[in-house]
Parts: sequence; C-alpha cells; structure tokens
Amino acid sequence: RSTLSGGTGLRGCRIIVTAGPTVEPIDPVRFISNHSSGLQGYAIAGALAARGADVRLVSGPVFLPTPPSVQRIDVRTAEEMKAACLAQLPADAAICVAAVSDWRPETVSSRKMKKTAEAPPVLSLRENPDILATLSHVAKRPALVVGFAAETDDLQSHAEQKRRRKGCDWLLANDVSRHPFGGQKNQVLFLTENGTESWPEMTKPALAEQLAERVVAFFQKQD
Ligand code: CTP
Ligand code: CA
Repeated sequence: RSTLSGGTGLRGCRIIVTAGPTVEPIDPVRFISNHSSGLQGYAIAGALAARGADVRLVSGPVFLPTPPSVQRIDVRTAEEMKAACLAQLPADAAICVAAVSDWRPETVSSRKMKKTAEAPPVLSLRENPDILATLSHVAKRPALVVGFAAETDDLQSHAEQKRRRKGCDWLLANDVSRHPFGGQKNQVLFLTENGTESWPEMTKPALAEQLAERVVAFFQKQD
C-alpha cells in the first residue's frame, strides 16, 4: 500500500476537521492565542479529501493553503469554532486537531486599553467550551470522534484518562517534550477502546495518511 494513495474509500462521508489555534480577543488590538501551525490538521483534511470525503475544515487563523477539494470555514474564537462545527452536523466523523485556547478573557474591552498611572490591568479568564467533548456527546454524534493530545509526561496514562474524559473513540497522543509545537514530525500513541498502538516517528503528512487509512477501514467495517 502506498502511503500517498488517494482513492474513493471515503466517498459519501462528511468529516469535520478542526485545525489551527483559536484567538481570544482582549481588546480591539490584543488577543490570547498559541503557536499551533495548523500543519497536522490541514494534512489530515487533505488526506481525507483525497479519499473522497466531504471535508469541512473548521480553521483558526493560519497561513496555509486550503487543501484541494476541502471546504474551509474560517473562525477565530473557540465559541465560533464550536458553533461552526455544530452547524456542519450531521457528520460521519469529527477529527479535532485544533489547539483550542483553554481560556478566554471574561470581558472584551470595546476600546483599546490604555496605560495609566495605576497598576497594570488584571486579566480575568473563563474556560472555553470543549469542542471535542461537545461533539462526543451531542445528540447527532458522529459515528467516529477523534481527538489529539499534547502531553509532557506520563503519556500513556494521561492520554487514556483524556480519551475517557472527552468521550471520544480514538485519541492520538503526542509527547511534546520530544516533539515540540511547530515541528515537521510527529510521534504518537494511538489509543482506542481496544488498546494502545505506538506509531513510529513520521512526518505530519505521513501521519495524516496513516490516520486516513484507519478512517477508511473504520467505515468499511460499518458497511
Ligand atoms: N479540545 C477542544 N476544545 C477545547 C480544548 C481541547 O476541542 N476547549 C480538543 C483538542 O482539539 C484536542 C483535544 O481536545 O483534540 C485535547 O486537547 P488538550 O488541550 O490536550 O486537552 P484539554 O482537555 O484542554 O486538557 P489540558 O488541560 O491537558 O490542556
Ligand atoms: Ca488544552
């Protein structure tokens, strides 16, 4: 099997993919975000579309071209990303690769905040919605829900706890102490209800191809 094969294995499947960072405004010129490049999520969207899937790529701001045959929906905040994902339901699968900001400023100033003689402002934060957990428990739940996890220690046990807590079917867990954000390669543990596989180190496009093949196999079994 070629790792760069396309095909028609996912024709008729609608798949939501989230990718990139979210951006949470503080005021009109400032925000909270993270260093997600979007590379892994875009590669996955492209690999699924190359197999015939109807891919809805819900993307935070990134500087990447939209992969061929992918329908891209641009969002900024976690709230917008969640609403855009729910608007794509019903879907056959959801693959959450986005680095969603865990928190957002409790209030957004409508004017640019100015320096004053007083103490610097204190940012008060509130938790963002968990999009992966929402898609795992929604009434029109996709048959296959997949998450990613970045951990720095106890990879296997943190990842298994995260998979159960989120309620997703598969979780790909990455040791970010060895493969930091923005790198070209990834090495993951692949966790399902049937156990854990350790996948070898590979490029992000190669990981996308391998995951896409697993998605094809999942929907073949369902027929
Ligand atoms: N995720 C999400 N919405 C959030 C946070 C995370 O959809 N608000 C998804 C990510 O896209 C990823 C998975 O959940 O697929 C795991 O993200 P991660 O940040 O590792 O998990 P958290 O539950 O936020 O836990 P942590 O405290 O370790 O950051
Ligand atoms: Ca998080």
